[in-house]
Amino acid sequence: MELHTPTSRRVLVARPRGYCAGVDRAVVAVEKALEQYGAPIYVRKQIVHNTHVVKTLEAKGAIFVEETEEVPEGEIVVFSAHGVSPAVHAEAEQRALRTIDATCPLVTKVHNEAKRFAGQDYDILLIGHEGHEEVEGTSGEAPDHVKLVDGLDAVDQVEVRDPGKLVWLSQTTLSVDETNETVARLKQRFPALIDPPSDDICYATQNRQVAVKEIAAESELVIVVGSDNSSNSKRLVEVAKEHGAAAAYLVDNATFIHDEWLDGVTTVGVTSGASVPDELVEEVLARLAGHGFDDVTEVESVQEKVRFALPHELRKDLRVS
Ligand code: F3S
Repeated sequence: MELHTPTSRRVLVARPRGYCAGVDRAVVAVEKALEQYGAPIYVRKQIVHNTHVVKTLEAKGAIFVEETEEVPEGEIVVFSAHGVSPAVHAEAEQRALRTIDATCPLVTKVHNEAKRFAGQDYDILLIGHEGHEEVEGTSGEAPDHVKLVDGLDAVDQVEVRDPGKLVWLSQTTLSVDETNETVARLKQRFPALIDPPSDDICYATQNRQVAVKEIAAESELVIVVGSDNSSNSKRLVEVAKEHGAAAAYLVDNATFIHDEWLDGVTTVGVTSGASVPDELVEEVLARLAGHGFDDVTEVESVQEKVRFALPHELRKDLRVS
């Protein structure tokens, strides 16, 4: 097939994009644990939802398992950025595992809200995706009080004990606009529903959505770098399509780009999910440059300065070494 190649082709790269503070902390925690204690270091679930990150850590000696029961007794296990339920902590303790908890502090914040409201006997409407690790961890804090609301269609089905004593919380990586719609619909059904004390959708998710909206408005095509189990990356594809891009695709890396996507396109927007190292974006830019997209502009919409300290179990040992 002969492709139509416009003469002037440009790329708009969103900023902020890629690694958030929680992902950076979790990945560095595994790297530091490997340096400090030596391989193997066990990691329960993917430390962050990115194939490249997982493979790179595996090559350094990390062993990824689905459940703590797969970790030999007495070994070190790292809990992923998405968080775990108290039952997982208890199981690790029973097996005498040494744990390093790399749960993002902003996920821990939602766990604490769930515990607090459950302690006051509220039912908690947790907006999130069924089966997502973060949702499982948060629900596990108060299984008798948390009711999952997975999208708008679930609003009419959810059952509560007392419609007068209800709070909503959410997964940290949802679409801001869609969540607002779900909350509005929930409030129609449950007028007494109260809001969480502060936003549960984290700063990084929000900022990446703001940034992709800005480039989507000027791009025919938006490429989002991210793995297909990454919730926040998938939301970026949806947001791009809703805000002006004729097409938007999620790619794990540059090799996933189809040449025909670029046919007749003059402006491509590029961004990446919160679990994506920037080298993968660089590879995408190199591939686009090979197709004549060599006018590259970074569009910054928000400045980010958030940093989190490493998990305390690790900091303690790093200090004494
Ligand atoms: Fe934390 Fe948000 Fe990143 S919850 S891991 S800062 S996407």
